[in-house]
Amino acid sequence: MTAIDPRPSVIADRLSGVKRVIAVTGWKGGIGKSVTASTLALLLARRGFRTGLFDLDFAGASDHLVLGAKGLFPKEEKGLEPPVLEGVSFMSVVFFSENKAVPLRGANVSDAIIELLAITRWGELDFLVLDMPPGINDAALDVMRFARGAEVLAVTTPSVLAHDVLERSLELYRKLKVPVLGVVENMSAGRHGTADAAIRTDPALEKALGRPEALLKTAFAGDLARAAGKLGIIG
Ligand SMILES: Nc1ncnc2c1ncn2[C@@H]1O[C@H](COP(=O)(O)OP(=O)(O)O)[C@@H](O)[C@H]1O
Ligand SMILES: [Mg+2]
Repeated sequence: MTAIDPRPSVIADRLSGVKRVIAVTGWKGGIGKSVTASTLALLLARRGFRTGLFDLDFAGASDHLVLGAKGLFPKEEKGLEPPVLEGVSFMSVVFFSENKAVPLRGANVSDAIIELLAITRWGELDFLVLDMPPGINDAALDVMRFARGAEVLAVTTPSVLAHDVLERSLELYRKLKVPVLGVVENMSAGRHGTADAAIRTDPALEKALGRPEALLKTAFAGDLARAAGKLGIIG
């Protein structure tokens, strides 16, 4: 007898009250996925949307630092209920790694992520923003496979290398029939080449990290809001 994997249906059930899942992805670390995912969640919550944010980057979870989440922890109740911060239901792999580097690789990372997707209770949400592990590896592909209907928001940088990798990952998403909302060129000098929208380098961003109110007032947040409008995330 073949064992049937119950996790896809459990996860589908957990996400059944979520209208849109936006997966913020990018080719590597340090390109702005986390500031983009976290600030997007704050912008959506501020506009009155019921919003969740899930930091799935085991190698470098940092949304809790961007949001200034301290002393928060999910509540255990028929699964895990995410704590709410600035109107954003927030879940992170960091809650389970206590800021230590997580010695997980490959399949284990995938398994841990899938497990978390299977136990987290999001309830009713308009948006769930996923801060994805960098690149298109097994973990990233599993998330896309399990969080059915997720739409990709790709973050890139002006580098030639970035564009090359981006093209290949977009090709893969097309093959997998994962909808791509668009490509945002971050730390852009203003022009955004083949990308759909640009976010400029904002020297004031670093100082606003950890302070949602200040973060929302940055030029970075302004550019991101415009990009989100252009890509049909917010009207
Ligand atoms: N548009 C920008 N302007 C200025 N600094 C930025 C910008 N985008 C990202 N950064 C900075 O770059 C660093 C890496 O960003 P992060 O979101 O952690 O990247 P990733 O999640 O892709 O690893 C952070 O310190 C962040 O504040
Ligand atoms: Mg990150």
